[in-house]
Order: sequence, then C-alpha cells, then structure tokens
Amino acid sequence: MQTREKLLIRALRGETLPRPPFWLMRQAGRYLPEYRATREQAGSFLDLCYNPDLAAEVTLQPIRRYGMDAAILFADILLIPDGLGQPLDYREGEGPILEPIRDAAALAALDLDKMHGRVAPVYETVGRLAAELPDHVTLIGFAGAPWTVATYMVEGRGSRDHALVKQWAYGDPEGFGQLIDLLVTATVEYLSKQVEAGAEAVQLFDTWASALSETAFQRWCIEPVEKIVTQLRQKYPELPVIGFPRGVGAGYKSFAKAAGVNGVSLDWTVPLEWAAAELQKDVTVQGNLDPRLLVIGGAAMEAEICRILQILGQGPFIFNLGHGIVPETPPEHVGRLAEMLRG
Ligand code: CP3
Repeated sequence: MQTREKLLIRALRGETLPRPPFWLMRQAGRYLPEYRATREQAGSFLDLCYNPDLAAEVTLQPIRRYGMDAAILFADILLIPDGLGQPLDYREGEGPILEPIRDAAALAALDLDKMHGRVAPVYETVGRLAAELPDHVTLIGFAGAPWTVATYMVEGRGSRDHALVKQWAYGDPEGFGQLIDLLVTATVEYLSKQVEAGAEAVQLFDTWASALSETAFQRWCIEPVEKIVTQLRQKYPELPVIGFPRGVGAGYKSFAKAAGVNGVSLDWTVPLEWAAAELQKDVTVQGNLDPRLLVIGGAAMEAEICRILQILGQGPFIFNLGHGIVPETPPEHVGRLAEMLRG
C-alpha cells in the first residue's frame, strides 16, 4: 500500500486541503531566543551555516515550538558565491559583503569544481534533518535564483537601486549572461545534492525580481528559473519546486505560466482575489501575510490570517508570510498564528 504523502507535498501536487499546510520564511532566526543562543555558540553566521550539528538544531527549533508542516534547511542563498570562490563576510548591521565581480576576468576566477567541497556541510545538514524530522514534516531545500544571487555578487552588498548589476545586465547582456549561466549550473548541482541528501521540495528565492523591467524579468528571472526547473526534473521528475519572484505584481502570472514551478510564493502586495482567479488554476500559491502584522499581532493579525485562509484556501494553497519574519517579532505572536493554522 502506498503511504499517504505529507500535507505540503499534496498541496504542491495541486490538492485543495481542508487544512492548508503552513511554514514561515525565516522561521529559524533572531526572533527566537534559542536561535540567538545557538548562533552565539557557533561564532559567526557563516560558522553556523557550515556547522551541520548546529544548523540542523536551528532548523528544528521552530518546528519544536510551533509544529510547522515544513522545515526549511538553515543556510543562506550566498553560500553558492562563497563556494564558487567569492569569499563572503556578514557584518553585524551591514548584512553580506563580497568582493564584487563586475567583468569577465573576475568571472573567470570562479570555480564550480571547488563549490561542493566548500558547501559539503550543507548537504550533511540536510542528511541529518531527513533522519531526524517528525514523519509529517516536509524538508524544504533552497537556493537563491540566479538574478538575486548575481545582484549580491556584482554589487558586493545589498543595494537599493541595483545600478551596477543593471549596468552589466542591460549594457552587456552577453557577458552578464555568462554569470547567469554559471549560476544556473551551480544551482542545479547544489539543489541536486540537497535532494540526494533528503530534501523533498525546493524553493528558489528571487527577492530582487522586483527590480527588473518586463523584458529583463523575462530574461534574467523567468528564463534561468525555467532552466533550473527543467534540469532538475530531468533527474527528479516528481520534485516539487516553489518559485518566489518577490514584488513582480502582474508578472506573477507570466512566471506561473512559464517557469515550470509547482508553486509560487506571493509577496504581501499581491491581491488575494486576483491570485485566486489568475494563478491558482495553474499553480499552488503560498503566502502572503505581511510580516509586520506578525510583529503587531492581535486582532489585526488574526483578521488578515482569516481573510487569506478564506480566499486562497478554496484552491491549492500553503500558508506563509509575504517575506521573511523580522527579528523584532514576538515569539508568542507566531504561537497564536500556529494555533489558528493547526486548527
Ligand atoms: O529560516 C529560513 O528561512 C531558512 C534560512 C534562510 C536564511 N536566509 C537565513 C539567514 C533563508 C531561506 C535565507 C534566504 C536569503 N538570504 C535571501 C532570500 C530571502 C529574503 O529574505 O529575501 C536573501 C536575500 C539572503 C541574503 C541575506 N542573508 C541577507 C541580505 C542577510 C542579512 C539581513 C539579515 O536579516 O540579517 C542574511 C543573513 C541571514 N540569513 C540571517 C538568517 C537567519 C540573519 C543572520 C544572523 O543570525 O545574524
């Protein structure tokens, strides 16, 4: 007899469930005191990402507290550039810092063959989680989508206007395309290793898709994501993939039709009735509570949770936030959300 699939996987296969599964982006993180303690023990943020014992521990912390339906591997989207040989540093209050890559010579110095050695502890973390997670919890692996990872690689840090990466992408699409192609290959390999170690679904984070004009969105977001999905499916035909092209408005519709993903994660600006009518017939939707409402809590948060459940719960749906949990979120507000969603 076939065993019943986990709720999150069933939702990603297109089932409408009486109780939609839930998890939260950045569910492991600084809002949890136990995360801050483990992070202290690890040393730096990167030491934590590359320590399988401690990375598995912080992945499990929110599951123990709140009983989410999915655990997302604790790692970071910038481990791929770090693995390719573009050393990464996280500074308190500044976010990630990298030595920028802005031309063919810097690009040529990156080395795909070295990546797996450097990021091997991440695969080990996945293996431990696959062995330790409760039976009903789905293990989600992830990577950044090529455009978003490239923004950090070219700018060398978080950026508001993305002037330098656009300079390259719009001014020399062929040269920039080589960086994107390298990231497509690296991402397929990185996610394949996660799947082989036990990840049951994967999410591609394209946080800065919002910066791109229509044709650039097609070329630098949809096309590379579609290539990644196609190559992964050649190896793992059943692998569920979630895409998150954050902040693209009506562009979500082209993404849902062309990227080949099973699910799209919606940021909090996407209108719910529109998503139900325009997206849910093609893909499972995930989202989209404003993380600020999780900071505020109370009636404002609860009313919005009910509205989202009511409108998106009529079709294939995974409850989540519209972006990651912010550090000042009171843990008890996450508890109330979990109570409402577990039913
Ligand atoms: O719980 C989870 O969601 C899994 C772990 C995870 C992290 N980062 C841990 C993290 C995931 C999925 C990410 C994705 C990620 N990382 C994205 C895409 C999603 C998004 O949030 O837009 C991006 C753009 C990054 C790059 C990144 N990592 C930045 C810009 C920063 C600094 C900002 C910040 O919040 O400090 C990070 C650091 C980071 N990644 C932290 C965590 C828990 C905070 C590090 C700390 O403990 O100090």
